[in-house]
Amino acid sequence: MDGIVGVVGLGTMGLGIVLVYAQAGFAVLATDSFPAARASARERLTAALAPRLAKGAISQGDHDAILDRITIVDDVAALAPAGLVVEAIIETLAAKQSLVAGLEAVLAPDAVIATNTSSLAVTAIATGAKRPERILGLHFFNPAQVMKLVELVAHPGTSPAALTRAGDWTRAAGKVVIDAPDRPGFIVNRCARPFYGEALALLEEGRSAGEIDAAMQAAGYRIGSFGLIDLIGADINLAATEGLSRAMGGHPRYHVFAALQDQVAAGRLGRKSGQGFVFPGEAGPLPTDAAAIALRIEATLVNEAGWLLAEGGTTRDGIDSALKLGLNFPRGPFEMLAAHGADRIRATLAGLEASAPAHLKTRYLPSPLLEAS
Ligand SMILES: NC(=O)c1ccc[n+]([C@@H]2O[C@H](COP(=O)([O-])OP(=O)(O)OC[C@H]3O[C@@H](n4cnc5c(N)ncnc54)[C@H](O)[C@@H]3O)[C@@H](O)[C@H]2O)c1
Repeated sequence: MDGIVGVVGLGTMGLGIVLVYAQAGFAVLATDSFPAARASARERLTAALAPRLAKGAISQGDHDAILDRITIVDDVAALAPAGLVVEAIIETLAAKQSLVAGLEAVLAPDAVIATNTSSLAVTAIATGAKRPERILGLHFFNPAQVMKLVELVAHPGTSPAALTRAGDWTRAAGKVVIDAPDRPGFIVNRCARPFYGEALALLEEGRSAGEIDAAMQAAGYRIGSFGLIDLIGADINLAATEGLSRAMGGHPRYHVFAALQDQVAAGRLGRKSGQGFVFPGEAGPLPTDAAAIALRIEATLVNEAGWLLAEGGTTRDGIDSALKLGLNFPRGPFEMLAAHGADRIRATLAGLEASAPAHLKTRYLPSPLLEAS
């Protein structure tokens, strides 16, 4: 596909995003404000491609052509020819707004500016822009060159033309692009919360991480809730939970469980620290009430998806597809609803609400979707 893509920020995400577009045939101009990040970029890109070359997924010719399409440039001014710029810089609003101003000074009027923010509102990043209609979110998942899903986030003023270009170019790069509302956590990071939170609630009630994970794996999940926290890092998971809790006004549905805080305070971050909730061990033993554990976690996943759906800007299919692609879930929340039936989900939530401790009261109140169905 023709077109020039700019990428700003050559860290974990930016590097992967460069590869996404370069592998699809786009010319990519990429930069970083940190000189060492620019200097090491080519070496890191080569290292990121090495496993694919070794496996034979790409030929030496493909490999060289991908790298040839990538130019590391000294500053944002050199991104002027780009028709789409994706920013993956530090996660602070002031830095992103200032980058938008810098990009607007050099880009063509119809060039699209996409932010890869995870926790800031796209609307806030577009505030103050000269042409807010060209600003939108393209939320990639880590590692960007591997994960199929990209959430496409419009703010109220984003133009259809900008959404079309960002969507078309990103689909041409092999991604499944799903529209997501400009709400905290978009779809995946928001709807995933109960997968961790409800497992932590069970842990605080005295169940073991191993048996909870075994129950989820028996229900078809490739990895259990605690195995996933160990993989992501308890610190990253805590930061995401705290961010969402703040953004949602501290609602008990986003309760920050002490068990997670304690885990981080103790440095048991998971794979990266060598010790986590279950890592280096494995899930198990399978408890006799495994089905009830899975039902409880899925009931809260269904309910969260229902609340998000009620806020608008997404669809049942969008949420189901996003969670299956973004988290490798075996089924989406609305497929869980169909499988269990609304009566069972409602009854499960009602039981949880009735026995909830004071700090979790209102956590399990049914979403409008469940009240209506
Ligand atoms: N890491 C993830 O799993 C993940 C997933 C999705 C989205 N994101 C988002 O992607 C963005 C980048 O995250 P990351 O994990 O790649 O961070 P990172 O720290 O690995 O990389 C950020 C890079 O941006 C550069 N940078 C910082 N300020 C800059 C500026 N003003 N101009 C140019 N370059 C600048 C830094 O030198 C660094 O190389 C953040 O907005 C983050 O929220 C991260």
